[in-house]
Amino acid sequence: MFRTLIALLLTMSFVTMGHAQDAPATVPDRSATGGAQTLEDILARQRGEKVDNGFRSDATGDPNNAAAPSNQLGTLGGASDPELWRALRFGSADITASNNGPAATTLVQDGGMRWLRFRQGPLLTYGSYLLGGTLLLLALFYLVRGRIRIDGVKTGHKIERFKAIERFGHWLLAGSFILLGLTGLISLFGRKFLIPTFGHEAFSTLAVASKWVHNNVSWAFMIALVMIFVMWVIHNLPDRTDINWLLKGGGIFSKGHPPAKKFNAGQKLIFWSVILLGASISVSGLSLLFPFEINIFAATFAKLNAFGISELLGLGELRTDLAPHEEMQYAQLWHAIVSFVLMAIIFAHIYIGTLGMEGAYDAMGSGEVEEQWAREHHSLWVDEVKAKEKPNTENATPAE
Ligand code: HEM
Repeated sequence: MFRTLIALLLTMSFVTMGHAQDAPATVPDRSATGGAQTLEDILARQRGEKVDNGFRSDATGDPNNAAAPSNQLGTLGGASDPELWRALRFGSADITASNNGPAATTLVQDGGMRWLRFRQGPLLTYGSYLLGGTLLLLALFYLVRGRIRIDGVKTGHKIERFKAIERFGHWLLAGSFILLGLTGLISLFGRKFLIPTFGHEAFSTLAVASKWVHNNVSWAFMIALVMIFVMWVIHNLPDRTDINWLLKGGGIFSKGHPPAKKFNAGQKLIFWSVILLGASISVSGLSLLFPFEINIFAATFAKLNAFGISELLGLGELRTDLAPHEEMQYAQLWHAIVSFVLMAIIFAHIYIGTLGMEGAYDAMGSGEVEEQWAREHHSLWVDEVKAKEKPNTENATPAE
């Protein structure tokens, strides 16, 4: 289930990466180099264009052509020096290493530069656009719609909305997420923005502290995620009221409020985004926390291939023979991409929980909300609460 979920989530972000595996239309003429790579191959790679590496990865020596042991080339088992280096580079060399560990036999891994370029380029650029764009949209929304006020007359009567344990779970999740977001951004934006501004010395202290906080606070986030899931999943299962709520756009721009239970459809979307994206961030984070121990991408790509999802999305056959370092590179990118998406969603959530809606914050602050607020935003839930209160009042023995 977990893996299928990750498989589905993965399909969202590897569209561009998958295209890199398409075969080029024409095979370049390499006769001048005797089949070895040409200057044009090297330049094309440097321009970031796709280069079919088959002519190198398949040319790693043929044992059947091995020279006899008596011959000088016999020690290489039929492979020349360049062929051996290619075999090392493309992961097909038969290696015995004296050191231990899951990645010990990967002596050359050629995805590092691709990963670094993506991390320093599109990831930073589009990540910033997403967060900045979300803040701009929220500012615009505030200017157009203003604060969502309590329409009716306040009753002065409060209803308990969240128990202390629920608020604890929420603030553990919120506090840890904010710390993780800040320290994650520090390590992502450090090299490009913070080092030029503060210098290496200051940044190194900040980076070490950030990494420590990020690695350790992650446990609080995971625990809180489980708490929130267990406590609130029952209230977040989709039902018919959600369709009506969504069709009316939550009543945000119209008069009147569509009926809702404890959580309306908008909140259910937030809940499931937090749970699913939070789980995906946690799994990829664990993979990074225990390098080379938890490899999730080759298995996910294999599932995407097997279910035909990669084909359906035009990604072709995804590679499943990933080097341990490639697993880490994908985990880092995925971790950051999904975190950016969840941060943008949480910006909107924080806005509506504070500035955007009168009376909302009390639900997580004191745990009690104004009854009129509750009637306007969660009318069916108020009915449920009142119905539960009623039998108690009816059963109560009147004082003589
Ligand atoms: C300063 C930051 C935050 C504030 C002020 C805030 C405020 C609130 C409030 C007032 C509610 C209750 C809404 C209601 O009564 O209907 C709520 C619910 C919730 N919060 Fe937060 N929150 C914050 C950060 C976060 C973060 C970082 C996460 C997750 C990573 C999160 C996840 C949730 C979830 C899943 C719910 C239930 C669904 C919903 O009401 O949208 N919150 N929050």
